[in-house]
Amino acid sequence: MLAAVASSQQGFEDVTRWLIGAGGKRLRPILLLLTARGLIDEADRETAITAAAAVEMIHVASLYHDDVMDRAELRRSTESVNHRWSSPIASFAGTFVLARAITMLDAISPEASALAGEHCAALCLGQLREAENAFNPDWTIEEHLEMLEGKTAGLFILAASLGALLGNVSDRDRDALIAYGKYLGLAFQLRDDVLDYTSSSAELGKGSASDLREGAYTLPVLLCLSQDGAGSRELRALLRLAHIRDADIARGVDIVRASGAVEATAKLAREKSAAAVKTIAGLGDRVLRDSLANLARISVERMA
Ligand code: FPP
Ligand code: MG
Repeated sequence: MLAAVASSQQGFEDVTRWLIGAGGKRLRPILLLLTARGLIDEADRETAITAAAAVEMIHVASLYHDDVMDRAELRRSTESVNHRWSSPIASFAGTFVLARAITMLDAISPEASALAGEHCAALCLGQLREAENAFNPDWTIEEHLEMLEGKTAGLFILAASLGALLGNVSDRDRDALIAYGKYLGLAFQLRDDVLDYTSSSAELGKGSASDLREGAYTLPVLLCLSQDGAGSRELRALLRLAHIRDADIARGVDIVRASGAVEATAKLAREKSAAAVKTIAGLGDRVLRDSLANLARISVERMA
């Protein structure tokens, strides 16, 4: 990945390498490499590794842009690119990393880059729907979950699709792996939204409870707002304030935590994880099945 974002502009290279060097869980490339694990030919394995790097780079590219949109200061336990350099520089870098990833996939096969194009578009549309519903306390749970299918599950589906393409799996297994990717992505995102309410900023490596301030109402907030009670009414009134202070955010977080909505989100994450495991029950490869089941379990048990 570091080699793939090299350029003749030394200063810019520091920017494009910044978030890659900062680490991350690398879940999407893991999913791709697992789904393509039937490959025994050395050259094919190299190709799968290139595709895995490209998928992670697309994810990283979206984080450059997401941090600009969220005005985030912290990402992957380090300063965000927009904060360290500037928002325009972060946008250029995000687009550059994306461009390099698409070139890598296109060199593998036009089908691979077409898949990436399709899911990048879904990612953008998901992000757009989230932005359109910023500060909307009446956003329905169904619409929110549908948005997550594009915004987060899209790249998991892409990873599984590319793994299935390169690994030459049967149509039936490919469909199962794609469904698995979708549920894993949803489970992963819902766990993320739980952690925003249960972990500190230091544990997360990014700002916590920042979603509420930015008007990005995640499932815990929407579930709390959908309740019929004093907490829900107070939260609604608080979110309507023209000038929301730190103390209001803290109170909002307390209301969400006390409402049981965080536990309900954690439960839904576990259900999506179980649904992911169910979709792969028919896979003939036992090692792959067990590995994917483990990945689904880890995704909803993780604390960071
Ligand atoms: C993080 O969500 C954001 C995403 C997963 C997607 C962002 C997508 C775009 C900005 C569209 C651009 C797309 C490409 C392909 C470059 P979050 O804000 O819920 O998570 P966080 O808490 O980690 O910030
Ligand atoms: Mg964000």
